[in-house]
Amino acid sequence: MVDAGRRSNGAALMVALCVALLGTVCATKPAAKPAAAAAVDVGGPPSVPAGPLDITKLGAKGDGKTDSTQAIMQAWKNACGATGTQKIVIPEGNFLIGALELSGPCTSSIIIRLDGNLLGTGDLNAYKKNWIEFMRVDNFAVNGHGTIDGQGPLVWGKNECNKNYNCKILPNSLVLDYVTNASIRGVTLKNAKFFHLNLFNCKNVLVEKVNITAPGDSPNTDGIHMGDSENVTIKSTNIAVGDDCISIGPGTKHVKIHGSRCGPGHGISVGSLGRYKDEKDVEDIEVTNCTIKGATNGLRIKSYEDSKSQLKATKFVYDQVVMDNVSYPIIIDQKYCPNNICSKTGLSKVTVNDIVFKNIVGTSATPEAVTLNCANNLPCQGVQLVNVNLKYTGTHNKTMAVCHNAVGKSSNVVKELACL
Ligand SMILES: *[C@@H]1O[C@H](CO)[C@@H](O)[C@H](O)[C@H]1NC(C)=O
Ligand SMILES: *[C@@H]1O[C@H](CO)[C@@H](O)[C@H](O)[C@H]1NC(C)=O
Ligand SMILES: *[C@@H]1O[C@H](CO)[C@@H](O)[C@H](O)[C@H]1NC(C)=O
Ligand SMILES: *[C@@H]1O[C@H](CO)[C@@H](O)[C@H](O)[C@H]1NC(C)=O
Ligand SMILES: *[C@@H]1O[C@H](CO)[C@@H](O)[C@H](O)[C@H]1NC(C)=O
Ligand SMILES: *[C@@H]1O[C@H](CO)[C@@H](O)[C@H](O)[C@H]1NC(C)=O
Repeated sequence: MVDAGRRSNGAALMVALCVALLGTVCATKPAAKPAAAAAVDVGGPPSVPAGPLDITKLGAKGDGKTDSTQAIMQAWKNACGATGTQKIVIPEGNFLIGALELSGPCTSSIIIRLDGNLLGTGDLNAYKKNWIEFMRVDNFAVNGHGTIDGQGPLVWGKNECNKNYNCKILPNSLVLDYVTNASIRGVTLKNAKFFHLNLFNCKNVLVEKVNITAPGDSPNTDGIHMGDSENVTIKSTNIAVGDDCISIGPGTKHVKIHGSRCGPGHGISVGSLGRYKDEKDVEDIEVTNCTIKGATNGLRIKSYEDSKSQLKATKFVYDQVVMDNVSYPIIIDQKYCPNNICSKTGLSKVTVNDIVFKNIVGTSATPEAVTLNCANNLPCQGVQLVNVNLKYTGTHNKTMAVCHNAVGKSSNVVKELACL
């Protein structure tokens, strides 16, 4: 898990690009003409775009070798400058592409139908920061049964984040910055160079029936990370990666994760909180009906010891989560301090309050099925363990809860875990 760079997504640069796009493309929108009925009724009546929207009509070749970046950029310009609902088509085939800067604002609502495979070039010079980046675009959908393949194995060897905590970040695969009303459905995200899906400053995002896969030992391949975002729903999504399946960063509110699976990976995490100044609260997170299997953590909340900002983590409900051989199924850690980058004061400015773990059952790969490691100066408050039954499956030790500075209550919890 790397927190460096999560807050910025090349925002300044992309704002400049966005202004450039506004001047050149979005301002010269074609006259709206009614066209055939569109699939989604958002953004006004459909119009004829300024050119084709099927990328193979714009020079893209699904041969896995021809660089098809310009074809997709052209389709985007055609769609973004039109009105009504526009549908960009990426048919079956293997399309090699470099960085895609899909900037708005657009005058249309865009659907990208992805049935082919997008392959991210292994040439790192082709990227400024991310691979496929939506910036200031509202009302769009990506759907289909295609794959967004970062081709991480070509570059994972260049990841130095295990040696240097402020390492250079490799390109994230799919990035949404300052986006409102988006959905990602059906597609597969595979072998990202860094994170698979990153949401920054987004609102009303739905991720549904998406599969995210990378080897369990691939570096920093988080499944979905979000920060400074609101109303994000993740459902029926399977994530097997080398880092956090889902991580929820500062400034995020109203997240629902339902009917999803995680593992291998580092679990469903809130945090890390408190690394930077001016971080905002994390509030109202709901994780229901999920399975976590063979992951290093299950449900985790972590904040830096000696945190740099004062914020709250509050109103979290975890309900009906099945653990299958998870190393630390339930873990709150207010003393997180990787690579000794903080001073070991035991103190925190991150308030952890009103956290419910309910109907959490299954197996733990270590004896420590419940860990509540809260700060000396700021105990975790209102923590509830309700119907929690986790068992260590190893032989040389017994199931236990390790709890410090946590206040709340346990009900219907196996007695070795009832530490509240
Ligand atoms: C987002 O969707 C809602 C509901 O359809 C709509 O009212 C709102 O205007 C949309 N927001 C933007 C920024 O387009
Ligand atoms: C939250 O996002 C969902 C899409 O996932 C949308 O249907 C819903 O209207 C949004 N809620 C609010 C309050 O905007
Ligand atoms: C997604 O993953 C699930 C579970 O591994 C699998 O059953 C399903 O076929 C996958 N879907 C796609 C579209 O690959
Ligand atoms: C829970 O999630 C599973 C998939 O993991 C799904 O099959 C089932 O329908 C979900 N149950 C509810 C009540 O949503
Ligand atoms: C459980 O997890 C441990 C540690 O990750 C692993 O070594 C072991 O093989 C797993 N056991 C099973 C039954 O999958
Ligand atoms: C049992 O597990 C706990 C927690 O991981 C550890 O501190 C302790 O040393 C273990 N005891 C034995 C006998 O292995």
